[in-house]
Amino acid sequence: MSFYTQCVRPILFQCDPEWIHNLTLALGEGVGSTVWGRWILEAVFSYVDPRLSVSVGGIRFPNPVGMAAGFDKNGRAIQALSAMGFGFVEVGSVSAHASEGNPRPRLFRLPVDEAIVVNYGVPNEGALAVAKRVGERETPVPLGINLVETNTGNPVGPDAVVEEFVEAVKPFRERADYVALNLNCPNTTGGVSTFDEGPHLRNLMAEYKRLDGLPAIFLKFTAHTEPKRMEHMLAAVEPFDFVKGFIFNLPSGKNYALRSPSKIVDGMPGTLCGPPTRKMMDETIRFWYEHMDRERYWIIGSGGISSAEDAYRKIRLGASLVQVYTGLVFQGPGLVKRIHEGLIRLMEKDGLTHIGQAVGLDHLGERPVGRSRSTVV
Ligand SMILES: Cc1cc2nc3c(=O)[nH]c(=O)nc-3n(C[C@H](O)[C@H](O)[C@H](O)COP(=O)(O)O)c2cc1C
Repeated sequence: MSFYTQCVRPILFQCDPEWIHNLTLALGEGVGSTVWGRWILEAVFSYVDPRLSVSVGGIRFPNPVGMAAGFDKNGRAIQALSAMGFGFVEVGSVSAHASEGNPRPRLFRLPVDEAIVVNYGVPNEGALAVAKRVGERETPVPLGINLVETNTGNPVGPDAVVEEFVEAVKPFRERADYVALNLNCPNTTGGVSTFDEGPHLRNLMAEYKRLDGLPAIFLKFTAHTEPKRMEHMLAAVEPFDFVKGFIFNLPSGKNYALRSPSKIVDGMPGTLCGPPTRKMMDETIRFWYEHMDRERYWIIGSGGISSAEDAYRKIRLGASLVQVYTGLVFQGPGLVKRIHEGLIRLMEKDGLTHIGQAVGLDHLGERPVGRSRSTVV
């Protein structure tokens, strides 16, 4: 039991979830914009240990725990999030054009399951506005930008989607350390993606190849363990060495064993995030790490991380970096530091001197598809 779970959370949970989300961002933006504010956040929350630093896709991360996409959609609180000890921050999802997202209410809590149901539908201010803002704000940790097609409510053809992703990435080339392409947003297209079949993903990559100054690219797509679908994606990205790895999106819906009564859950439109998804997301990491070329690709793992043990399990299964969102809502900002401290403890217990040595440890003895690789820096 922390001060947050005992005293702060009960008050926050009396209020509308989206209102609290916006208030938190406004506070983060205010505090993070001053030197003193950042200094206080660092003093209270941050935890520095060189044994946690990792190098992924040619980028150096001070620790492997990042803020997942969706919290800071418009890049307002990136300085506060960096000062809070995150090893990286992923802004977005951002689309080429501004979007209002889905109608409200579109964010719901399931306290008994420590889960969130989200149906935001990627509201954001659009690529140009967000790129201008993040371009004016320095962060000491890598910045990821998560891009998505604009949610207009009307599906458009594959060529238009490709064009959108090309437009969206252009203003971020100077500032982003990596770009994550959200190929199957569960709340705009029901998780169905233009890029799942046919030549569209390869076409998009070919368009990206023409761009100067492209940062590392990660593909974010619906978690699955289907060999054929995986082969299609790996074949499509194979010729493009700027593709550095994968992030898994939660599947649309709430198809999990939940403790919350179904009459409450059924009334919430959207996608469930948090601990009930953990097992399925872990299995997805295991599957992809087993089959992908480990010399070439990296995995950023997420889904239900509420403790150091959850993060460490994902790392041992094959994630080089992890991301947190729902856990933060239920455990508070102190969670990041607790994960860092716990990772050190778990690493030491396994006789490791660096967190990079834990990546894929559960696969020891299996024959890797590519050569094995050290992420130690
Ligand atoms: C409120 C909310 C909004 C989200 N919005 C986005 C988004 O805009 N783009 C995206 O790629 N993922 C989004 N996500 C998914 C997260 O990035 C993450 O992949 C997922 O929540 C799993 O992590 P968690 O269980 O720690 O929450 C969102 C998640 C939540 C809870």
